[in-house]
Amino acid sequence: MIIKACIFDLDGVIVDTAKYHFIAWRNIARDLGFEFTEIHNERLKGVSRMRSLEILLEVGGITLDEKTKDALAKRKNEEYLEYITKMTPDEILPGTTDFLKDLRKNGILTALGSASKNSMIILKRLNISSMFDVIIDGNKVSKAKPDPEVFLKGAEELKIPPANCIVFEDAGAGVEAAIAAGMKCIGIGNPFILSGADAVIPGFREMYFRKLNLLLQ
Ligand code: BG6
Ligand code: MG
Repeated sequence: MIIKACIFDLDGVIVDTAKYHFIAWRNIARDLGFEFTEIHNERLKGVSRMRSLEILLEVGGITLDEKTKDALAKRKNEEYLEYITKMTPDEILPGTTDFLKDLRKNGILTALGSASKNSMIILKRLNISSMFDVIIDGNKVSKAKPDPEVFLKGAEELKIPPANCIVFEDAGAGVEAAIAAGMKCIGIGNPFILSGADAVIPGFREMYFRKLNLLLQ
């Protein structure tokens, strides 16, 4: 494979926002009268805000009308915003900035491919917006992961064929989306959860462009 572009998921790949999503969703569940655990939370990774709420309601065995669901999703996001608007560049996961710089140095294009409608707020807080040639977030797509739309849009805006793109993902739904887009996928995190990926690494610490080809061999 000739690598021309790298597409990064945001939550769980560049920054650990899963903990903030979790606290905010757990509070919604508590208000609805049930406990939402970190194990349940695994199912929310990579999926859209509304789909997350639907999964949460499924866990609690609760059915609600659309208006109530919209209000709950809004409330969850208000609490989530309280956390992410206080984030600092210290929260960028180890090795990420060096890896992004190394990719640029080697002429590799970079894109963000995230389901989050809050991506821009987070990137600005982390001070890394300029490190991406293209940013595709939850506001630019209509179909959530595992649909490949977010990654295909990223490749299209970069003007690079999907076969020359590598996706970095921490969620099962994201790995599925990358494969469906016809791209190679490197999982970040647990090899058991990310068994569909072409390779799995713990994170970007000590990660360089020249190591990517070795990983995909
Ligand atoms: C993904 C997260 O990146 O974004 C999901 O992994 C989240 O957990 C989704 O539900 C949507 O995020 P937001 O910020 O638009 O509510
Ligand atoms: Mg993620």
